[in-house]
Amino acid sequence: MLNATNAISTRLVAADAAAIREAAQLIRAGELVAFPTETVYGLGASALDPQALARVFQVKQRPLNDPLIVHLCADARSPQAWQALGLVDALSELQTRRAVALLDRFAPGPLTLVLPRGARAPALLSAGLDTVALRVPSHPVAQALLCEAGVPIAAPSANRFGHVSPTTAQHVLEDLGGRIHLILDGGPTPIGVESTVVDLCSEPPRVLRPGSISREQIAQVLGTPIQLGHAKLRESEAAPAPGMLARHYAPRVPLILCSDTDELLLQHAQLRAQGKRAGALLRDSQRHACAHVQPHYLLGETPEQIAQRLYAGLRALESADVDAILVCPPAGSGLAEAIADRLRRAAS
Ligand code: TXA
Ligand code: MG
Repeated sequence: MLNATNAISTRLVAADAAAIREAAQLIRAGELVAFPTETVYGLGASALDPQALARVFQVKQRPLNDPLIVHLCADARSPQAWQALGLVDALSELQTRRAVALLDRFAPGPLTLVLPRGARAPALLSAGLDTVALRVPSHPVAQALLCEAGVPIAAPSANRFGHVSPTTAQHVLEDLGGRIHLILDGGPTPIGVESTVVDLCSEPPRVLRPGSISREQIAQVLGTPIQLGHAKLRESEAAPAPGMLARHYAPRVPLILCSDTDELLLQHAQLRAQGKRAGALLRDSQRHACAHVQPHYLLGETPEQIAQRLYAGLRALESADVDAILVCPPAGSGLAEAIADRLRRAAS
Protein backbone atom coordinates (compact mmCIF):
# COMPACT_ATOMS: atom_id res chain seq x y z
CA MET A 1 0.00 0.00 0.00
CA LEU A 2 1.45 3.35 -1.01
CA ASN A 3 1.27 6.25 1.42
CA ALA A 4 3.17 9.44 2.15
CA THR A 5 5.90 7.58 4.04
CA ASN A 6 6.99 5.29 1.23
CA ALA A 7 7.07 7.77 -1.61
CA ILE A 8 10.71 8.67 -0.89
CA SER A 9 13.57 7.57 -3.13
CA THR A 10 16.25 5.99 -0.94
CA ARG A 11 19.94 6.39 -1.76
CA LEU A 12 22.39 3.73 -0.57
CA VAL A 13 25.88 5.24 -0.68
CA ALA A 14 29.39 4.23 0.40
CA ALA A 15 30.15 5.86 3.74
CA ASP A 16 32.97 8.16 2.57
CA ALA A 17 33.72 11.56 4.10
CA ALA A 18 31.35 13.45 1.79
CA ALA A 19 28.48 11.05 2.47
CA ILE A 20 29.06 11.28 6.22
CA ARG A 21 29.01 15.10 6.01
CA GLU A 22 25.73 14.97 4.12
CA ALA A 23 24.28 12.49 6.62
CA ALA A 24 25.27 14.75 9.52
CA GLN A 25 23.52 17.70 7.85
CA LEU A 26 20.38 15.63 7.34
CA ILE A 27 20.39 14.59 11.02
CA ARG A 28 20.78 18.21 12.14
CA ALA A 29 17.90 19.17 9.83
CA GLY A 30 15.61 16.65 11.53
CA GLU A 31 15.82 13.92 8.85
CA LEU A 32 16.55 10.22 9.35
CA VAL A 33 19.69 8.42 8.16
CA ALA A 34 20.63 4.73 8.46
CA PHE A 35 24.26 4.04 9.40
CA PRO A 36 26.45 1.10 10.44
CA THR A 37 27.53 0.43 14.00
CA GLU A 38 29.76 -2.39 15.23
CA THR A 39 26.60 -4.35 16.25
CA VAL A 40 23.85 -3.77 13.66
CA TYR A 41 22.74 -0.91 11.40
CA GLY A 42 20.89 1.92 13.17
CA LEU A 43 18.16 4.29 12.02
CA GLY A 44 19.43 7.64 13.27
CA ALA A 45 17.66 10.86 14.19
CA SER A 46 18.56 13.83 16.37
CA ALA A 47 17.89 12.63 19.92
CA LEU A 48 16.82 16.11 21.00
CA ASP A 49 14.22 16.64 18.25
CA PRO A 50 10.81 15.16 19.19
CA GLN A 51 9.52 15.45 15.61
CA ALA A 52 12.46 13.50 14.21
CA LEU A 53 11.97 10.89 16.94
CA ALA A 54 8.29 10.59 16.03
CA ARG A 55 9.37 9.87 12.43
CA VAL A 56 11.63 7.06 13.64
CA PHE A 57 8.67 5.30 15.30
CA GLN A 58 6.51 5.91 12.22
CA VAL A 59 9.10 4.69 9.69
CA LYS A 60 9.85 1.54 11.71
CA GLN A 61 6.19 1.01 12.59
CA ARG A 62 7.44 0.69 16.14
CA PRO A 63 5.09 1.02 19.11
CA LEU A 64 5.65 4.18 21.13
CA ASN A 65 6.24 2.19 24.33
CA ASP A 66 9.57 0.81 23.07
CA PRO A 67 12.35 3.27 24.04
CA LEU A 68 15.32 4.23 21.84
CA ILE A 69 19.05 4.23 22.58
CA VAL A 70 20.99 7.52 22.37
CA HIS A 71 24.35 7.27 20.59
CA LEU A 72 27.17 9.62 21.51
CA CYS A 73 30.48 10.79 20.14
CA ALA A 74 33.51 9.26 21.89
CA ASP A 75 34.43 12.74 23.21
CA ALA A 76 31.30 12.50 25.37
CA ARG A 77 31.81 9.22 27.14
CA SER A 78 31.30 10.11 30.77
CA PRO A 79 28.24 10.57 32.98
CA GLN A 80 29.37 14.18 33.51
CA ALA A 81 29.26 14.87 29.76
CA TRP A 82 25.81 13.27 29.51
CA GLN A 83 24.57 15.39 32.43
CA ALA A 84 25.98 18.53 30.80
CA LEU A 85 23.98 17.66 27.67
CA GLY A 86 20.85 17.34 29.83
CA LEU A 87 20.36 13.72 28.74
CA VAL A 88 21.03 12.23 32.17
CA ASP A 89 19.77 13.38 35.57
CA ALA A 90 21.80 13.54 38.79
CA LEU A 91 23.35 10.16 39.63
CA SER A 92 24.07 8.65 43.01
CA GLU A 93 27.71 8.27 43.92
CA LEU A 94 27.43 4.52 43.35
CA GLN A 95 25.80 4.94 39.94
CA THR A 96 28.54 7.37 38.91
CA ARG A 97 31.25 4.99 40.05
CA ARG A 98 29.67 2.07 38.20
CA ALA A 99 29.05 4.05 35.00
CA VAL A 100 32.62 5.39 34.95
CA ALA A 101 34.08 1.91 35.54
CA LEU A 102 32.04 0.36 32.72
CA LEU A 103 32.75 3.22 30.29
CA ASP A 104 36.48 3.14 31.07
CA ARG A 105 36.55 -0.54 30.24
CA PHE A 106 34.05 -0.88 27.37
CA ALA A 107 33.48 2.49 25.65
CA PRO A 108 33.53 3.08 22.77
CA GLY A 109 31.95 -0.32 22.18
CA PRO A 110 28.79 -2.45 22.21
CA LEU A 111 27.61 -1.42 25.69
CA THR A 112 24.38 0.47 26.48
CA LEU A 113 23.81 1.97 29.94
CA VAL A 114 20.36 2.74 31.38
CA LEU A 115 20.52 5.80 33.66
CA PRO A 116 18.06 8.35 35.12
CA ARG A 117 16.61 10.52 32.35
CA GLY A 118 17.66 14.18 32.20
CA ALA A 119 15.41 17.18 31.55
CA ARG A 120 16.49 17.68 27.91
CA ALA A 121 15.83 14.07 26.88
CA PRO A 122 12.43 14.07 25.15
CA ALA A 123 9.84 11.78 26.76
CA LEU A 124 9.31 10.08 23.39
CA LEU A 125 12.95 8.97 23.38
CA SER A 126 12.42 6.98 26.56
CA ALA A 127 8.84 5.96 25.85
CA GLY A 128 7.82 8.01 28.87
CA LEU A 129 10.11 6.12 31.30
CA ASP A 130 12.14 8.04 33.86
CA THR A 131 15.30 6.38 32.52
CA VAL A 132 17.33 6.78 29.32
CA ALA A 133 19.62 4.35 27.46
CA LEU A 134 22.95 5.59 26.08
CA ARG A 135 25.86 4.13 24.20
CA VAL A 136 29.12 5.19 22.51
CA PRO A 137 29.51 3.00 19.42
CA SER A 138 32.99 2.09 18.23
CA HIS A 139 32.30 1.74 14.49
CA PRO A 140 34.38 4.37 12.67
CA VAL A 141 31.46 5.43 10.45
CA ALA A 142 29.14 5.80 13.45
CA GLN A 143 31.80 7.79 15.30
CA ALA A 144 32.52 10.04 12.33
CA LEU A 145 28.79 10.71 11.89
CA LEU A 146 28.24 11.45 15.59
CA CYS A 147 31.20 13.81 15.86
CA GLU A 148 30.30 15.57 12.58
CA ALA A 149 26.60 15.92 13.50
CA GLY A 150 27.44 17.50 16.85
CA VAL A 151 24.15 16.25 18.31
CA PRO A 152 23.38 12.98 20.10
CA ILE A 153 21.72 10.52 17.72
CA ALA A 154 18.86 8.25 18.77
CA ALA A 155 19.03 5.03 16.79
CA PRO A 156 17.03 1.84 17.00
CA SER A 157 18.04 -1.03 14.77
CA ALA A 158 17.16 -0.05 11.17
CA ASN A 159 14.60 -2.79 10.52
CA ARG A 160 10.82 -2.78 10.44
CA PHE A 161 9.53 -3.42 13.95
CA GLY A 162 9.43 -7.15 14.77
CA HIS A 163 11.80 -8.16 11.97
CA VAL A 164 15.41 -9.31 12.39
CA SER A 165 17.97 -6.53 12.79
CA PRO A 166 19.97 -5.50 9.70
CA THR A 167 23.65 -6.35 9.46
CA THR A 168 24.18 -4.99 5.93
CA ALA A 169 23.07 -1.83 4.12
CA GLN A 170 21.12 -4.07 1.74
CA HIS A 171 19.07 -5.41 4.68
CA VAL A 172 18.18 -1.82 5.60
CA LEU A 173 17.12 -1.13 2.02
CA GLU A 174 14.88 -4.21 2.04
CA ASP A 175 13.09 -3.08 5.20
CA LEU A 176 13.10 0.71 4.94
CA GLY A 177 13.58 1.48 1.23
CA GLY A 178 11.11 4.16 0.12
CA ARG A 179 10.84 5.42 3.71
CA ILE A 180 14.17 7.15 4.36
CA HIS A 181 16.44 9.32 2.19
CA LEU A 182 19.90 7.96 2.93
CA ILE A 183 21.62 4.72 3.94
CA LEU A 184 25.36 4.89 4.66
CA ASP A 185 26.96 1.64 3.54
CA GLY A 186 29.88 0.62 5.75
CA GLY A 187 29.84 -3.07 4.82
CA PRO A 188 28.64 -5.94 7.02
CA THR A 189 28.62 -5.09 10.73
CA PRO A 190 31.45 -6.84 12.59
CA ILE A 191 29.61 -8.13 15.70
CA GLY A 192 26.15 -8.84 14.31
CA VAL A 193 24.01 -8.85 17.47
CA GLU A 194 22.78 -5.79 19.36
CA SER A 195 24.64 -4.17 22.26
CA THR A 196 24.61 -5.43 25.85
CA VAL A 197 22.08 -3.32 27.79
CA VAL A 198 23.01 -2.77 31.46
CA ASP A 199 20.49 -1.17 33.82
CA LEU A 200 22.31 0.94 36.41
CA CYS A 201 18.98 2.11 37.86
CA SER A 202 18.27 -1.23 39.50
CA GLU A 203 20.05 -2.55 42.58
CA PRO A 204 22.03 -4.66 41.94
CA PRO A 205 22.52 -3.68 38.26
CA ARG A 206 21.02 -6.06 35.69
CA VAL A 207 21.76 -7.03 32.11
CA LEU A 208 18.47 -6.35 30.31
CA ARG A 209 19.73 -7.61 26.94
CA PRO A 210 22.77 -9.89 26.56
CA GLY A 211 25.32 -8.97 23.92
CA SER A 212 28.96 -9.53 23.04
CA ILE A 213 30.10 -7.96 26.31
CA SER A 214 29.24 -10.76 28.69
CA ARG A 215 27.50 -10.70 32.04
CA GLU A 216 30.69 -12.12 33.54
CA GLN A 217 32.73 -9.20 32.18
CA ILE A 218 30.21 -6.70 33.59
CA ALA A 219 30.18 -8.50 36.94
CA GLN A 220 33.95 -8.45 37.08
CA VAL A 221 34.17 -4.70 36.47
CA LEU A 222 31.36 -3.92 38.96
CA GLY A 223 32.52 -6.45 41.54
CA THR A 224 29.01 -7.82 42.01
CA PRO A 225 27.09 -10.75 40.46
CA ILE A 226 24.79 -9.69 37.64
CA GLN A 227 21.35 -11.11 36.87
CA LEU A 228 19.87 -11.33 33.40
CA GLY A 229 16.49 -9.76 32.64
CA HIS A 230 14.21 -7.38 34.43
CA ALA A 231 13.62 -7.25 38.16
CA LYS A 232 9.98 -7.10 39.20
CA LEU A 233 8.18 -4.24 37.48
CA ARG A 234 8.71 -0.86 38.98
CA GLU A 235 5.41 0.50 40.25
CA SER A 236 5.35 3.33 37.72
CA GLU A 237 5.40 0.83 34.85
CA ALA A 238 2.07 -0.44 33.67
CA ALA A 239 3.39 -2.92 31.13
CA PRO A 240 6.38 -5.27 30.97
CA ALA A 241 9.57 -3.38 30.35
CA PRO A 242 9.54 -1.90 26.86
CA GLY A 243 11.65 -3.62 24.28
CA MET A 244 11.73 -6.83 26.23
CA LEU A 245 8.78 -8.32 24.36
CA ALA A 246 9.34 -12.05 24.09
CA ARG A 247 8.74 -12.13 20.37
CA HIS A 248 11.00 -9.46 19.01
CA TYR A 249 13.55 -10.76 16.53
CA ALA A 250 11.24 -12.69 14.29
CA PRO A 251 11.79 -14.15 10.85
CA ARG A 252 8.71 -14.46 8.64
CA VAL A 253 8.65 -18.28 8.86
CA PRO A 254 8.60 -20.45 12.02
CA LEU A 255 11.97 -21.02 13.65
CA ILE A 256 12.39 -24.41 15.40
CA LEU A 257 15.09 -24.75 18.06
CA CYS A 258 16.76 -28.18 18.25
CA SER A 259 18.98 -29.42 21.06
CA ASP A 260 21.48 -31.20 18.80
CA THR A 261 22.16 -32.42 15.25
CA ASP A 262 20.16 -35.65 15.76
CA GLU A 263 17.06 -33.71 16.77
CA LEU A 264 17.52 -31.35 13.84
CA LEU A 265 17.67 -34.30 11.44
CA LEU A 266 14.60 -35.87 13.05
CA GLN A 267 12.62 -32.62 12.79
CA HIS A 268 13.67 -32.30 9.18
CA ALA A 269 12.52 -35.85 8.37
CA GLN A 270 9.19 -35.34 10.17
CA LEU A 271 8.49 -32.10 8.32
CA ARG A 272 9.39 -33.75 5.04
CA ALA A 273 6.95 -36.58 5.78
CA GLN A 274 4.27 -33.88 6.14
CA GLY A 275 5.19 -32.52 2.72
CA LYS A 276 7.00 -29.51 4.23
CA ARG A 277 10.39 -28.12 3.32
CA ALA A 278 12.60 -27.04 6.21
CA GLY A 279 15.81 -25.06 5.79
CA ALA A 280 18.54 -24.92 8.46
CA LEU A 281 21.11 -22.63 9.96
CA LEU A 282 24.13 -24.89 10.44
CA ARG A 283 27.48 -24.71 12.12
CA ASP A 284 30.25 -25.74 9.73
CA SER A 285 30.78 -28.92 11.77
CA GLN A 286 27.14 -29.99 11.08
CA ARG A 287 27.55 -29.58 7.35
CA HIS A 288 28.36 -33.21 6.47
CA ALA A 289 25.68 -34.84 8.64
CA CYS A 290 23.12 -32.33 7.33
CA ALA A 291 24.20 -32.09 3.68
CA HIS A 292 20.72 -33.18 2.49
CA VAL A 293 18.99 -30.44 4.50
CA GLN A 294 18.41 -27.91 1.75
CA PRO A 295 18.53 -24.99 1.67
CA HIS A 296 20.97 -24.40 4.49
CA TYR A 297 23.05 -21.44 5.52
CA LEU A 298 26.48 -21.91 7.12
CA LEU A 299 27.17 -19.86 10.24
CA GLY A 300 30.83 -20.75 10.78
CA GLU A 301 31.82 -22.36 14.07
CA THR A 302 32.84 -19.88 16.77
CA PRO A 303 30.30 -17.72 18.64
CA GLU A 304 31.87 -14.66 16.95
CA GLN A 305 31.29 -16.12 13.48
CA ILE A 306 27.78 -17.29 14.35
CA ALA A 307 26.76 -13.88 15.75
CA GLN A 308 28.14 -12.10 12.70
CA ARG A 309 26.20 -14.29 10.22
CA LEU A 310 23.05 -15.08 12.22
CA TYR A 311 20.70 -12.34 10.99
CA ALA A 312 21.85 -12.61 7.37
CA GLY A 313 21.15 -16.35 7.62
CA LEU A 314 17.64 -15.83 8.98
CA ARG A 315 16.91 -13.34 6.21
CA ALA A 316 18.37 -15.61 3.52
CA LEU A 317 16.29 -18.60 4.60
CA GLU A 318 13.05 -16.69 5.01
CA SER A 319 13.48 -15.44 1.43
CA ALA A 320 14.10 -19.01 0.22
CA ASP A 321 10.45 -19.91 0.61
CA VAL A 322 10.90 -22.61 3.26
CA ASP A 323 8.11 -23.71 5.61
CA ALA A 324 10.35 -23.68 8.70
CA ILE A 325 13.92 -22.93 9.77
CA LEU A 326 15.81 -25.40 12.00
CA VAL A 327 18.75 -24.40 14.20
CA CYS A 328 20.70 -25.66 17.24
CA PRO A 329 21.37 -22.69 19.57
CA PRO A 330 24.92 -22.61 20.98
CA ALA A 331 25.39 -23.37 24.68
CA GLY A 332 27.59 -21.27 26.93
CA SER A 333 28.02 -17.77 28.32
CA GLY A 334 29.03 -14.49 26.73
CA LEU A 335 28.25 -14.15 23.04
CA ALA A 336 26.71 -17.66 22.98
CA GLU A 337 24.18 -16.45 25.58
CA ALA A 338 23.31 -13.47 23.37
CA ILE A 339 22.87 -15.70 20.30
CA ALA A 340 20.67 -18.16 22.22
CA ASP A 341 18.61 -15.21 23.53
CA ARG A 342 17.94 -13.89 20.01
CA LEU A 343 17.08 -17.37 18.71
CA ARG A 344 14.68 -17.97 21.62
CA ARG A 345 12.88 -14.70 20.92
CA ALA A 346 12.72 -15.39 17.21
CA ALA A 347 11.26 -18.83 17.89
CA SER A 348 8.67 -17.76 20.47
O1 TXA B 1 23.39 -2.42 19.24
C1 TXA B 1 22.44 -1.68 19.44
O2 TXA B 1 22.08 -1.35 20.59
C2 TXA B 1 21.65 -1.19 18.23
C3 TXA B 1 22.55 -0.24 17.43
C4 TXA B 1 21.83 0.42 16.30
O3 TXA B 1 23.11 0.71 18.29
N1 TXA B 1 20.43 -0.54 18.63
C5 TXA B 1 19.36 -1.24 19.05
O4 TXA B 1 18.24 -0.46 19.31
O5 TXA B 1 19.36 -2.44 19.20
P1 TXA B 1 16.78 -1.05 19.46
O6 TXA B 1 15.90 0.14 19.50
O7 TXA B 1 16.54 -2.03 18.43
O8 TXA B 1 16.76 -1.67 20.90
C6 TXA B 1 16.76 -0.80 22.00
C7 TXA B 1 16.42 -1.55 23.24
C8 TXA B 1 14.95 -1.44 23.59
O9 TXA B 1 14.15 -2.30 22.87
C9 TXA B 1 15.02 -1.76 25.06
O10 TXA B 1 15.14 -3.15 25.21
C10 TXA B 1 16.32 -1.13 25.50
O11 TXA B 1 17.09 -0.96 24.35
N2 TXA B 1 16.09 0.18 26.12
C11 TXA B 1 16.14 1.40 25.58
N3 TXA B 1 15.87 2.35 26.49
C12 TXA B 1 15.63 1.70 27.63
C13 TXA B 1 15.29 2.14 28.95
N4 TXA B 1 15.15 3.42 29.27
N5 TXA B 1 15.10 1.18 29.89
C14 TXA B 1 15.25 -0.13 29.58
N6 TXA B 1 15.58 -0.59 28.37
C15 TXA B 1 15.77 0.32 27.41
MG1 MG C 1 15.70 -3.51 17.38
